[in-house]
Amino acid sequence: MSFYTPDTVLCNGETFKLYISKEQIQTRIAEIGMQIDADYEGKKPIFIGVLNGSFIFLADLMRHVSIPCEVDFFKLSSYGDEKVSSGKVTKLKDLDAQIKGRHVIIVEDIVDTGLSMSYIMKQIKEAGPASVRIVTLLHKPGATKYDVTIDYIAFEIPTLFVLGYGLDYAQEGRNLAQIYVIDDSKDE
Ligand code: IMP
Repeated sequence: MSFYTPDTVLCNGETFKLYISKEQIQTRIAEIGMQIDADYEGKKPIFIGVLNGSFIFLADLMRHVSIPCEVDFFKLSSYGDEKVSSGKVTKLKDLDAQIKGRHVIIVEDIVDTGLSMSYIMKQIKEAGPASVRIVTLLHKPGATKYDVTIDYIAFEIPTLFVLGYGLDYAQEGRNLAQIYVIDDSKDE
């Protein structure tokens, strides 16, 4: 099977170049999977994927976890079609699973301002889980304004707009198997 891994990609009229390769992503995910195996031994955690962006990361991460575990999904409104956060969060799909007394691991694609994560954390905590931790593929510490503690971070990145591996630009680009960033050299 061949994954979609171009060196550059045109998405909604903008050129993006490779930023984090498939190999780098998979290496970090394997490491985090091993860490979760060790941290949750005997606990049967439930992964809560935040749709849409986390679906590819979650699918790969879960396949590196070998302890018994479950999955459910929470869906939030996203950026819309822009490259900057709208500053508003709306719940589009609630959890189906009962998480009272469960060990919850929230799985995000990216923590940017932290607004979405603080909103989800509040909702999850109200349901009375035994514990809650956060795992994110990407974190932009320079952009984070809300108080969120992230337990597992695959990559910390500067405040840049990125695309691929589940992350979109106006709903496109999620199918890229690597992470891309705007290629500014094309503007010069
Ligand atoms: P936050 O609420 O500002 O932390 O933003 C979280 C959501 O914004 C993520 O789950 C993504 O859907 C979206 N997002 C933030 N940064 C980017 C980016 O660089 N590329 C694509 N989507 C992003």
